[in-house]
Parts: sequence; structure tokens; C-alpha cells
Amino acid sequence: MIKQNNNVYPIFDRMMGREDKQGLLKQRSVMVWFTGLSGSGKSTLAIALERELHARGYLCRILDGDNIRSGINNNLGFSAADRIENVRRIAEVGKLFIDSGIITIAAFISPNDYIRTMAGEIIGTNDFLEVYVSTPLEECEKRDVKGLYAKARRGEIRDFTGISAPFEAPVHPALSLDTSVLSLEESVNRLLELILPKVSIDNI
Ligand code: ADX
Repeated sequence: MIKQNNNVYPIFDRMMGREDKQGLLKQRSVMVWFTGLSGSGKSTLAIALERELHARGYLCRILDGDNIRSGINNNLGFSAADRIENVRRIAEVGKLFIDSGIITIAAFISPNDYIRTMAGEIIGTNDFLEVYVSTPLEECEKRDVKGLYAKARRGEIRDFTGISAPFEAPVHPALSLDTSVLSLEESVNRLLELILPKVSIDNI
């Protein structure tokens, strides 16, 4: 799947580096990687987290499933291979933001350990914070914000995560948040507790 091109010569050594940019922005960049079912609350948490970090002077960038899939990844579907390629590209794009000193918040189902480990390896495990949005399937299906669960149940969408395609819960996430139990404010507070020490300029 991943092709190596031996005739490519990256010029990273001549470009301004991550440390320069982190210094300019007075922050350390990390990847906050939300994983969880469709409708579990990943995007809502990502948006709320970005607002809170922004208010504290931190520059962030959200990468979100539905947005990325309508742009850079609009040629990909939901087969196992396409999901891997989806996440591989997202992780590579995320790395560009991380290398620009920007705190990056990714919200993708990323349904199994293989995919999430690949993302972590592309980003660098030190910079990768895996957050499991553990809202149960029943709750996601009850919410059915986009009406996709109903379609999946009717057989109108194939390979739908949680219904007709698997979701493997992460084993050791940095944080788990069940949005059927926690308020948005509580979830964001837990996220800030985890993230603020890691993005502080003192940790560069
Ligand atoms: S991932 O599995 O490749 O990580 P991603 O997060 O990019 O998925 O996209 C998930 C979003 O695509 C869902 O929130 C939903 O809106 C939409 N979607 C459409 N078809 C499917 C499907 N078969 N399985 C899961 N999500 C789907």
C-alpha cells in the first residue's frame, strides 16, 4: 500500500523547523486523536476543545471525518483498505500541522488498533494522544444525528461501523469519555487537564 519513491529528496533540513515554529507560537504541538463511533460526539468535543484552547492563546487545527472526506479524501469509501488510506493521509496531513507547531485535533472513527497504531507511528507516539469517545452504540444510534444508523439498519448503507462493520475499542487510550454520562463541560475539562500540561511552552 505505501509506495517508496527512491528518487525523491525531501528538503526538510533547509526549512524552518518545528522548534522554530513552536517558539514563535509559544506552544508545544501535539495531536489529539479522537476515536469512536459515528455520533459518539467526536466532532462536538473537537470543536469545544479548540474553542477552549484558542481562548487560552493556543493555535489549533481540527481535522474532521466529514470535512476531509468531502475534500482531500473524496475518492475514498468505507472498505477496510479505504479506511486505512483515509487515516494514513490524515496522519500525514496532521504531521504537517504538528511540524508547523500547531495543536492538531483529529476526529475520525479510526475503527481499529491497526489504523490507530499506524496514525501514531506517522505522527510519532510522543506527540499522539489517543482519546476514546466511548459513548455506547445504543446511544449513538438513538441520537442518529445524520440518519445514517437508520439507513444502515435498512441495509441502505453497507459496512457501517457498529452495525455492519467492526469497531475495536482502544486498549490504553490516554483518556476515555462517554458523552452519554459526561456533560460537554465535564468532558472538555478532562481534556484540558490532559492537554494543557503537554502544550505548555515549558515542555518544549
Ligand atoms: S473512518 O472509519 O475512515 O475513520 P471517518 O471518520 O473518516 O471514518 O468517516 C466517518 C463518517 O462518515 C461518519 O461519521 C458518517 O457520517 C460517514 N459515513 C458514511 N458511510 C459510513 C460507513 N459505512 N461507516 C461509517 N461512517 C460512514
